[in-house]
Amino acid sequence: MSEPLAILGVVGLRKEFGPLVAVDDVDFAIPVGGSLAIVGESGSGKTTVARMIVGLERPTAGAIIACGRDRSTPARGAAERRRRGGEVQIVFQDPYSSLDPRQAVTAAIDEVLRLHAADLDADARRARVGELGGLVGLDERQMRARPGALSGGQRQRVAIARALAATPRVIVLDESVAALDVSIQAQVLNLLADVRVATGVSFLLISHDLAVVRQLTEQVIVMQRGRIVERGATAAVLDDPQEPYTQLLRASVPTAGWKPRRRAGAR
Ligand SMILES: Nc1ncnc2c1ncn2[C@@H]1O[C@H](COP(=O)(O)OP(=O)(O)O)[C@@H](O)[C@H]1O
Ligand SMILES: [Mg+2]
Repeated sequence: MSEPLAILGVVGLRKEFGPLVAVDDVDFAIPVGGSLAIVGESGSGKTTVARMIVGLERPTAGAIIACGRDRSTPARGAAERRRRGGEVQIVFQDPYSSLDPRQAVTAAIDEVLRLHAADLDADARRARVGELGGLVGLDERQMRARPGALSGGQRQRVAIARALAATPRVIVLDESVAALDVSIQAQVLNLLADVRVATGVSFLLISHDLAVVRQLTEQVIVMQRGRIVERGATAAVLDDPQEPYTQLLRASVPTAGWKPRRRAGAR
């Protein structure tokens, strides 16, 4: 099969919760190798878009296409669920809730490899677990620990390592660094930028922090009450927002966080 033009696209995406239209006619396409941000005030529908993309909510209408395949209806069977998981992974804001408290980090990563890298034998998996731990900057002691013994930043690294273990083409990051303190946040962001360079993975990034959006994405959509009100190249939209709503969002960002903190070499 030839490479699809977009690694992830949604068309006419809609989600109703009873009378509430949480997501209303949302369209976007992330080109292969590209990354897209969703910004917007709390309650604008960002998380609902993310949850539909990874199959945690079913769209009321519209299509979701990842890696050239439709995923707008529930996966039929374990094989298809696994395939979808190998295409798009999600990292939530609070990694604690998605980690099993009884499971050491190595076991948590190994579990994903067993599912998504079934061709690897035990030795190869052990090596890959170590490699992923190194990639996200966890030392051997931390790798043997259970989530309860780790800091928030370390747990977020575990969640990222687990997502990477599935070798997805797209990682959805829903406020994934928002809960971390500033220096840890910077480390995790640099890690994500490096992973992107190393693996070519695309990000769908949901963040209220426009400096983070600048660092990790080329395109942005702005959501208000379920609809897209502005879109374009990240730098253009953030430097020169056309919509009053986007201007307000920008103005509500603390100045310290607004200054682009782009790393040398990061796009
Ligand atoms: N499971 C649900 N049931 C009912 N309403 C929901 C549910 N999930 C989200 N909503 C509502 O949908 C709207 C969009 O929510 P959400 O996607 O979480 O916004 P955001 O992530 O931008 O803050 C909000 O009004 C929220 O209360
Ligand atoms: Mg949200």
